[in-house]
Amino acid sequence: MTHVPVVDVLQGRFAVGETVTVKGWVRTRRDSKAGLSFIAVHDGSCFDPVQVIALNSLENYADIQRLTAGCSVSVTATVKASEGKGQALELDAERVEIVGWVENPDTYPMAAKRHSIEYLREHAHLRPRTNVIGAVTRIRNCLSQAIHRFFHENGYVWISTPIMTASDTEGAGEMFRVSTLDMLNLPMTDKGEVDYSQDFFGKETYLTVSGQLNVETYCAAMSKVYTFGPTFRAENSNTSRHLAEFWMIEPEVAFASLDDVAGLAEDMLKYVCKAVLEERADDMAFFAQRIDKDAINRLEKLVSSDFVHMDYTDAIDILKASGKSFEFPVEWGVDLSSEHERYLAEEHVGGPIVMKNYPKDIKAFYMRINDDEKTVAAMDILAPGIGEIIGGSQREERLDVFDRRLEEMGLSQEDYSWYRDLRRYGTVPHSGFGLGFERLVAYVTGMQNVRDVIPFPRTPGNAQY
Ligand code: 4AD
Repeated sequence: MTHVPVVDVLQGRFAVGETVTVKGWVRTRRDSKAGLSFIAVHDGSCFDPVQVIALNSLENYADIQRLTAGCSVSVTATVKASEGKGQALELDAERVEIVGWVENPDTYPMAAKRHSIEYLREHAHLRPRTNVIGAVTRIRNCLSQAIHRFFHENGYVWISTPIMTASDTEGAGEMFRVSTLDMLNLPMTDKGEVDYSQDFFGKETYLTVSGQLNVETYCAAMSKVYTFGPTFRAENSNTSRHLAEFWMIEPEVAFASLDDVAGLAEDMLKYVCKAVLEERADDMAFFAQRIDKDAINRLEKLVSSDFVHMDYTDAIDILKASGKSFEFPVEWGVDLSSEHERYLAEEHVGGPIVMKNYPKDIKAFYMRINDDEKTVAAMDILAPGIGEIIGGSQREERLDVFDRRLEEMGLSQEDYSWYRDLRRYGTVPHSGFGLGFERLVAYVTGMQNVRDVIPFPRTPGNAQY
């Protein structure tokens, strides 16, 4: 390519006087009385656009004066020290080629003004051109690269787990069915049930809710593994922290206890937040200024302090003693709802909490039963502002205890035969967790709704684009 990213120009990779070509989209343009036009050109490579100064001596100056927000341009220009206050460097245009006009500036949905976040959601194909979604997108990228780097540096192997599966990992029945059967002419068995033996895979299959069970198989051979991929939940939750399609990071570690992976989660979160502070200072400054004034402090505090560990049973006592009237009443045995999680993380601790040892009746079949026979070695990490961002556990590695648990939950050994094999052939204690990627991005940026931190959100009733 013959052109260079705007970020390279603004960061001074080219000397004053050097000629460069940048290509991108016009954010704003204004004319000065002195016969110049100032064009702010952005290309997504950093938060700021570069200021291009076009003189009226340019042969297509009349066209340049018709440029509006959203037009695409290719600018060849000389790097120049800026006389204005803002950026140190700007560009003196030698040539401004107009690549694509905006057909009617009055109807351009991303005209340069403040739009509500709901309005931007309705224009998901154009919203990446805005400051806020551009910044979210770069932070999202920074976080995912940092996550892979963290695991790579620590000797983990990335496993691609399947998206189509026959297992309901979480046992919650919130799965999207995958089928090639003709819905209007479903084959039926003698018992009057849909005959899935005639379906593509010869059985009922779904979009995965978690890669965990599959990644456990590789853990039982490669020791330290993780998945990072899309997961799907058909839960009808219209909240600011639920998506029907979201990305999850799931490490799984052999010979590791619950506390080992709680430590891993803490190290990982600190590593990736530090990466954001170091690599995306421009975007974080914007979030702190416009979205959440605490955005940078929060990350700095997370990086420099130890996570508080708390037992579920103690949390129930704290909630009861809080004097708060919660919408969902608190008693031992209930699942913590978002109001409880937020009270604990925001008001009680004022930072992330590793919540451990939940009642077994509210948790999944694969979690390791504790000696009290009432709780399981499960953990959630609760973060201020968003609540649960991580769910994990030590897995039940004892075949006899696992079989008892399957029976108790009405699940068949046959359906989990390959999973049971891991307990039959060289079983080992092992633990892992799942980090909801969109919840992490929301936490880091201070964005209020996970729909605004994923390019194309999928929620009940919404699969546009
Ligand atoms: O707690 P969950 O359901 O755990 C699992 O799926 C385990 N199999 C993970 C493991 O141990 N390998 O989900 C893990 C995380 C949650 O803490 C949350 O951050 C996120 O996934 N999550 C969602 N994020 C957005 N929309 C949804 N509908 C989500 N459901 C879960």
